[in-house]
Amino acid sequence: MKILFVGDVFSKLGRETFERNLRRIKENEKINFVIANGENVSHGKGMNEGHYKWFLNQGVNVITLGNHSFQQRSIYNFIDDVNNVVRPYNYNDVAGKGYATINYNGIKITVFQMIGRVLMDESVSSPFEKTKELLENVESDIYICDFHAETTSEKIAYGYAFDGKLTAVLGTHTHVQTRDARILDNGTAFITDVGMTGPLDGVIGVDKTIIVDRYVNNGKHRFEPQEAGKTQFCAVILEINDLTKKATKIDTIYVIE
Ligand SMILES: [Fe+2]
Ligand SMILES: [Fe+2]
Repeated sequence: MKILFVGDVFSKLGRETFERNLRRIKENEKINFVIANGENVSHGKGMNEGHYKWFLNQGVNVITLGNHSFQQRSIYNFIDDVNNVVRPYNYNDVAGKGYATINYNGIKITVFQMIGRVLMDESVSSPFEKTKELLENVESDIYICDFHAETTSEKIAYGYAFDGKLTAVLGTHTHVQTRDARILDNGTAFITDVGMTGPLDGVIGVDKTIIVDRYVNNGKHRFEPQEAGKTQFCAVILEINDLTKKATKIDTIYVIE
């Protein structure tokens, strides 16, 4: 089977490029299952109820979040009632769930998210310890981890730590696609960062004039999405052997329009 994972969909331009590209890729590549990171879908910060429904209308099976999980208040209206929205598993005492197990034609696909601790909120539980816990408690044929972290080293170390135990480790959060997609020695499909889906001309999605002003002039304007210019669509396609449930291939997609 083929699983498409789309990197952080960012605000209006992200939704537009997502709509333009998803249907074509699904048809051309015969995609069976779609996962999208939605932590930036609503004005760059979180996912509101309307955009959750928009993802479902696009045919997305599971939506992952990240450090922006709870920035739209309306997420509390539904996150505890649905089984296809995933926030970081190693968050403690928050709403929602850290994994989703979906039965796809008799194959159990578990999608979960861990958040890194390096250069992020370090009060969360260890993603390494919590992954061991999850593997002991959640039975599945396929495990796909969205590892939402800032540093390349933490993501790469995590990939090696669970090589052979997870089907895929797909990095998100830095919004820049890395060129290291590969199958690790024991069979885990890995990429340090899938990249983002949204404006190309901002600074990881945010209006470039605001961010440049921060660095150059110590500016204090609040973040607004980049709403004009080119777009990027970043994703990976995983090929999984239906019998062995092992990943056989990971290909990147990077579309600039
Ligand atoms: Fe993001
Ligand atoms: Fe993030």
